[in-house]
Amino acid sequence: MRGGERIVCETADELAARAAARLAAIVATDSHRPFCVALAGGSTPRRLYERLTLPWAEVELFFGDERAVPPDHPDSNWGMVKAALLDRSGVRAHRMRAEAGAAGEYESVLKSRVRQDRGWPRFDLVILGVGTDGHTASLFPGTAALAEARRWVVMNDVPQLGARRMTLTFPVLNAARRIWILCSGADKRPVVEQLAAGARLPVSRIDPDGELCWWLDRAAAG
Ligand code: 6PG
Repeated sequence: MRGGERIVCETADELAARAAARLAAIVATDSHRPFCVALAGGSTPRRLYERLTLPWAEVELFFGDERAVPPDHPDSNWGMVKAALLDRSGVRAHRMRAEAGAAGEYESVLKSRVRQDRGWPRFDLVILGVGTDGHTASLFPGTAALAEARRWVVMNDVPQLGARRMTLTFPVLNAARRIWILCSGADKRPVVEQLAAGARLPVSRIDPDGELCWWLDRAAAG
């Protein structure tokens, strides 16, 4: 597992509570407004979203990836975040129209809403999960999006899922001021151990100039 801070919590619930508290403290003291956050899908990030209370009028939400399904589909990341926090907060959020393959459209949204640094959008925070195969966002092993070095947002065919995804690309993720990688559950312990042993997986390429923090529960961290 590459550098950065590593926070190990006893349980997934404690991870969510501590991450929510830290994010609230960061937003309270950070001068950037709106505070721009890119969200991940998945059950570990969802626990954090459910706990999160921020000054929502000063925050703007984006997505790191999305499944190519309508927003009311059970697999939709938008749908999960809507239930976990959009409906109760009224926060401004920008949906990826992945079902329409609208990657260029989302790049235009980022160009208009997110501060840039050296030609890349610089999120104040990117929240990521990690899969048992070492994917993050929708940057899956063996897929074309791993090699994307110019575009900010791409559609990505994921044959191992038999699915299409929309995803931010590595240059965009790594341009962030902060990246948090949330990892919980015993099923993630093998990938955590592989990373610690130096395995080259998609998530290994998360290496921001800014801050990197891994949030793990004991089951994943061992
Ligand atoms: C997605 C995510 C994906 C997710 C990881 C971890 O759209 O599925 O963006 O990268 O964060 O697969 O998900 P879990 O926390 O549910 O294992």
